[in-house]
Amino acid sequence: MAKAQKTILVTGGAGYIGSAAVKALIEKGHNVIVADNLSKGLKRLVDKKAKFYKADLTDYGALEKIFKSNKNIDTIMHFAAYKAVEESMEKPEKYSDNIIGTINLLGLMIKYKVKKIIYSSTAAIYGEPEHNPMDESHPAKPVNYYGFTKLESEKIIEWHSRIHGINYTILRYFNVAGDAGLGYTDPEAKNVMPILMEVIFGKRKKFMVFGNDYPTRDGTCIRDYVDINDLIKAHILAMDAKENAIINLGTSNGVSVKELVDATFEVTGKKFLVEYAGRRKGDPAELFASNENAKKLLGWIPEKSIKDMIKSTYEAYKKNMTK
Ligand SMILES: NC(=O)c1ccc[n+]([C@@H]2O[C@H](COP(=O)([O-])OP(=O)(O)OC[C@H]3O[C@@H](n4cnc5c(N)ncnc54)[C@H](O)[C@@H]3O)[C@@H](O)[C@H]2O)c1
Repeated sequence: MAKAQKTILVTGGAGYIGSAAVKALIEKGHNVIVADNLSKGLKRLVDKKAKFYKADLTDYGALEKIFKSNKNIDTIMHFAAYKAVEESMEKPEKYSDNIIGTINLLGLMIKYKVKKIIYSSTAAIYGEPEHNPMDESHPAKPVNYYGFTKLESEKIIEWHSRIHGINYTILRYFNVAGDAGLGYTDPEAKNVMPILMEVIFGKRKKFMVFGNDYPTRDGTCIRDYVDINDLIKAHILAMDAKENAIINLGTSNGVSVKELVDATFEVTGKKFLVEYAGRRKGDPAELFASNENAKKLLGWIPEKSIKDMIKSTYEAYKKNMTK
């Protein structure tokens, strides 16, 4: 039987992950409304079939107009946030908007009787890993203000659920990578995969590996990369989840920086300069997810490998950077 069509408000729907969610929702036949302030998002990434509003979530009036003119919203996918870790330690006031925006959304959900929120959280809420794999009961002690804003938003969502009965799925992403067919290239590359691509396409001279003396299998840091297409599938599954839940989204397979570099050489066939430097302050040796909850509660199994992620990212950069 075909699933009923829903109306979804996607905040941050012009960003890297939000735009991929909009595309997937439209392909499934849902009505999609997007709210994005375009601080980083790009209008061209938003599917033309979605209804787009340029709005900042801290502007309660602008946000209420969206709820007023779209009275039938079933679910909110809340991606909108500032996410640059270093900047969050320099401009915490800007990052507080992540919390204010969430509070505004929740207030309007209650006023307009929207029942469900799927929230984009992050492994950054955990802080220093005390054990690996990290499960959802791992202590939450963020070590940067960005992580703090995401954790506070989680808690505020949980309180609104307790008090007003809102249903939530909080998804804690590990390192999201790959392309969802939109040809996304990061305008402010800060993550390792976009940085690698900028090296390949000559925007940077070399790829720096920080630390090769960590107590890991090859001395470089280990992280958990999850493909954007797999990640979006988890959001689609979460739309039907009736129980409130907090769920990690990672593959549970750590990949070292050296393994990532070697796989990039192999997949792209490109040569580029790699330089080793000392450790960076605050970089844990190893960090990867337990995804047992995602399997159990959503029936989610990530399918894409690190090579798939490199390949789709490379194709996206090739399309845009060689234009
Ligand atoms: N990319 C990752 O690896 C990763 C990992 C963990 C968690 N997350 C979370 O996933 C979400 C989406 O991340 P992304 O990688 O797509 O980032 P992104 O920066 O590409 O997208 C965020 C979007 O939100 C918009 N935005 C930001 N603040 C806003 C505001 N106050 N009002 C309206 N719009 C606003 C931006 O313009 C942008 O389009 C974020 O909540 C982020 O914290 C991302």
